[in-house]
Amino acid sequence: MSHSLRTLFSLRPSMADAPVASVGPVPFKDVDADSGSGSSVLEQLPEEHADLVSGLPCAPRPNGLSNLRCYEGFWLPEWSVPVAVALQRRFQPRRDDVIVASFPKCGTTWVNALTFATMARRAHPAAGAGHPLLRLNPHQCVPFLEALFRSRRGEAKLEALPSPRLMNTHMPLRMMPPADSAGGCKVVYVCREPKDMVVSLWHYLRRLQPDLPLADVSESVCGGAAMYGPVWDHILGYWSASTARPDSVLFLRYEELLRDPAKHVRKLARFVGLPFSGAEEEAGVVDDIVKLCSIGHLKTLEANKTGHVDPIFPIPREALFRKGVAGDWVNYMTPEMARRIDEIVADKFHTTGLTFQEWLTHADSIDL
Ligand code: A3P
Repeated sequence: MSHSLRTLFSLRPSMADAPVASVGPVPFKDVDADSGSGSSVLEQLPEEHADLVSGLPCAPRPNGLSNLRCYEGFWLPEWSVPVAVALQRRFQPRRDDVIVASFPKCGTTWVNALTFATMARRAHPAAGAGHPLLRLNPHQCVPFLEALFRSRRGEAKLEALPSPRLMNTHMPLRMMPPADSAGGCKVVYVCREPKDMVVSLWHYLRRLQPDLPLADVSESVCGGAAMYGPVWDHILGYWSASTARPDSVLFLRYEELLRDPAKHVRKLARFVGLPFSGAEEEAGVVDDIVKLCSIGHLKTLEANKTGHVDPIFPIPREALFRKGVAGDWVNYMTPEMARRIDEIVADKFHTTGLTFQEWLTHADSIDL
């Protein structure tokens, strides 16, 4: 690791002498002394954005959660409006960067793990006893752009990472730099059937508010004012980009990943420019990655059973791994709730070629 990288990340003592790969992606927590301390996330928001934020439409949220503000058509937590501005103005993706993008509760953790394990497999064989995913939560391996762009120090950390970098975001596509300035960076988007996303989100938020009715969560998603919503516009932004630029945006479906994870890991590897060799196929590397990242396996690991998702968002990490199935909405939603979501989906998506009834997707038809 270079001197400047060591200085910037001020390595924790235990990691200071560990070998650090000169190629990315590196497990982010291994090079970030601040992660887990909350110091960067609690940094004051820049004064210059106070007027911008206070002038935006507001949707208050209970339980100490940051209010939502509608910025450029999307409902963002108040603290992340300046983050969106910073991303739009200053984020300079590299040609070989890979960004995992998603609406919350659509399989982010899984796709982070799969993409990390796929891209880092030469430095960290998936079947190896020392794999970073055996001691770190997937979100500790893949830095969250929103957290990094909360401060100049975070931005500098991102800049110092070796290529290829792997990052994660929940931001809508319009908060990302325009494609022509993105230097060819690649985006892996994971989308999920909205009723299952709502049920997953409800279970998650109940960790903060146990009496939260499912109807309230469903209503806020349907009305658009859910974190990073409207979900339909979030999905459509990335969907349109994937149809216009399939070599830059890979559109994955959570349900399809469940149905055939190995097929999608191969697709992912080809997309990021690291296809599996014949020797790797023969050695069973794809299956090793699938097994390493399976919910059944991740759930058993100490790193995923302890700790919290974020120092200022006190949900236990184990809440990231619940059932991991498709169609769980039938166990919780009333027929009226389900119908309302289906009607909005039909209305928003009917001209787009994207449906949630059948699982045959655009991504399947791309010969990567
Ligand atoms: P459920 O609540 O329906 O079980 P996110 O990572 O975007 O927060 O999404 C969380 C959802 O993905 C949860 O869905 C969770 O159980 C599921 N999930 C997490 N890890 C998974 C994995 N390795 N494989 C399949 N699903 C996973």
